[in-house]
Amino acid sequence: MQRPILAANWKMNHGPSDARAFMRTFLAHYARRQDRQVILFPPAVTVTTVLAALKDRPDIQVGVQNIYWEDKGAFTGELSAPMARDAGATLALIGHSERRHVFGETDAETARKVAAAVRAGLIPMLCVGEKLDERESGQTEAVVLRQLRAGIAEVEPHAVGGMLIAYEPVWAIGTGKTATPADASAVHAVIADALRSQVGERARSVPILYGGSVNRGNATALLSADGVDGLLVGGASLDAEGWTSIARA
Ligand code: 13P
Repeated sequence: MQRPILAANWKMNHGPSDARAFMRTFLAHYARRQDRQVILFPPAVTVTTVLAALKDRPDIQVGVQNIYWEDKGAFTGELSAPMARDAGATLALIGHSERRHVFGETDAETARKVAAAVRAGLIPMLCVGEKLDERESGQTEAVVLRQLRAGIAEVEPHAVGGMLIAYEPVWAIGTGKTATPADASAVHAVIADALRSQVGERARSVPILYGGSVNRGNATALLSADGVDGLLVGGASLDAEGWTSIARA
């Protein structure tokens, strides 16, 4: 396995003032390590604050939580991939379940966003995951594969090799219900197989992260599961001390 990736998605939390305090505590307790990659996804208005705090810590990467597929223009409220790159972000979350299920983002839109990220030199982290009713009706694999194939449809195989995938079952997000390590491994294997059949050996370099109610108590077990290359953490990443212990998992 490559070194594990520990990623924090702050969602709509931590404006610049909170983020400055968070980063002071986190950086005081989290020393640079070669054996893992830490990524932070703050709200867009907080990206430059977080990057300023990371001036001497290039070991930690920063991404945005969403982008629009056009590069610029009359799209009030949106954020383009080149602008995110210009601000210093190096990654973009795309197709997060809240984008899909709160804001109605479609598979076709995630494909355009993945393509826009790649064009701008941002690394896309494409999120996929089934809802509870879909799991209960045996559609987990079909849903995840549909979202995966659609999400990578507009980029070349070599670009897929530079992406990351996050498997986040919707029923596990913010609910305190976590997939078991075995559940996560099973779906990660399906994703890895599908990627191999789409892009061949390039799939080997694509880390697959698990997300959904990860906390300091379950992080180590989830990270040790077969095929789990990292964790994408929401609620439990908001507290700097709690996040520090997950980052060290
Ligand atoms: P929680 O860790 O709060 O369940 O959120 C997971 C998530 O959506 C991360 O992107």
